[in-house]
Amino acid sequence: MGKSARPVFVCQECGSQAAKWLGKCPDCGAWNSFVEERPVEASGAAASHRYATAGTAGVARLYADVEVRQHARLSTGIGEFDRVLGGGVVPGSLVLLGGEPGIGKSTLLLQAAANMARTIGPVLYSSGEESEHQIKSRGERLGVGDAPLYLLAETCLERILEECARLKPALVIVDSIQTVFSLKFQSAPGSIGQVREAATQLLFTAKGQNVPIFLVGHVTKEGSLAGPKALEHVVDTVLYFEGERHHSHRVVRAVKNRFGAVSELGVFEMTSGGLRAVPNPSQLFLAERPVNAPGSAVLCALEGSRPILVEIQALVSTSSYGTARRMANGIDQQRLSLLLAVLEKRAGLHLGGDDVFVNVAGGMTIDEPASDLGIVAAIASSLRNRAIPQMVAMFGEVGLAGEVRGITQASLRIREAAQMGFTRCLMPGANIDPNDRAGAGSCDLVGIRTIGEALDELFG
Ligand code: TYD
Ligand code: MG
Repeated sequence: MGKSARPVFVCQECGSQAAKWLGKCPDCGAWNSFVEERPVEASGAAASHRYATAGTAGVARLYADVEVRQHARLSTGIGEFDRVLGGGVVPGSLVLLGGEPGIGKSTLLLQAAANMARTIGPVLYSSGEESEHQIKSRGERLGVGDAPLYLLAETCLERILEECARLKPALVIVDSIQTVFSLKFQSAPGSIGQVREAATQLLFTAKGQNVPIFLVGHVTKEGSLAGPKALEHVVDTVLYFEGERHHSHRVVRAVKNRFGAVSELGVFEMTSGGLRAVPNPSQLFLAERPVNAPGSAVLCALEGSRPILVEIQALVSTSSYGTARRMANGIDQQRLSLLLAVLEKRAGLHLGGDDVFVNVAGGMTIDEPASDLGIVAAIASSLRNRAIPQMVAMFGEVGLAGEVRGITQASLRIREAAQMGFTRCLMPGANIDPNDRAGAGSCDLVGIRTIGEALDELFG
């Protein structure tokens, strides 16, 4: 701790720094978010060492001289997990796995750790949240057995790095990054300075030793990681757990990936023996679909490279208060308002005095425009109190003029609907392609141009 180091005040929301305490952050507008942190000036030697370990030794190289490196991917032994990672773990990559408490982060990583310990060599699982005994009792349920898995109950960053250097593990897991603190900082574990420093040091270790490192990150109530943006750009890959704790299934989504496609999705089910991959998510998401109930529509969504059928539920009921309530679960609230306005203006549906609730069944989150048609159909179905025929699936973007616009990857969606036994698929006219008709088999493709046409098609 250098005596000359002046305290700085750091916003715990966005990482903005100030020389004195401020009540409101001038950058992100958060109130009461400044905390005093004492930074250490990196000495010259330490700084150069940092970059040397990153493998470039500080000398610029000609583009043509840099060899193309194929990232040999390491399998986690869990197919769905490999898929979100873009085909497996890249050696030397730093991966952040975020999610709410109790959603299954530790479980998934312990399962992956056990598998990888068996296939690629020793794994270091460092936990600041649970004792070795707690981890072991969980491991017994997951069938870790005699895999060369090293447990370390430690929160001190320097100790964790020492163990990395000593064990030379093939994989490191740090659960969670918010519990880790560096001796070089005086601020509390979990503060933005500590989290950033720990993640940065672990990044250098990952690159320097060419070992993949997984970080567990807690998500705050507002839905962001504590010290969020600061971490997201340090790591190579950011994965988030989605879903609800009361449901048994879990979705892991890639929101950033330097080594693969984003928005790739892995679907799991929480069982008494840990997380199990779900090979056919459409089946899972449609499992509890009510029969012939108004307000339910099946949507062909696309998550990353994978089509998934989900059920959209809508409930329209007369508002008993002055202002109508509009609630969206799993879709964007703004999008819902927009679609309601389009329905009102372009299809003549009167929704002004009604409460409208829209929910994506199973706790999924859908944010692509192709879901518009499903949302619109579910709302109209509930308003008219008429069920959409059971074996009809749909997709399409809705424009402000009430037109149904073409979307990407229509063939993939059609194929999934046909595979799941749907007999009719409502889709944008612009996406109708003779090849798809052949591929769809007994699924009848109905091209539509406006939401009015779609509602006629559904309700006659
Ligand atoms: P956990 O991985 O501890 O969550 P996180 O690390 O994200 O906080 O998951 C804990 C939950 O999972 C807990 O509610 C119990 C449940 N669980 C099972 O249902 N089956 C299992 O085999 C295990 C290990 C946990
Ligand atoms: Mg945990």
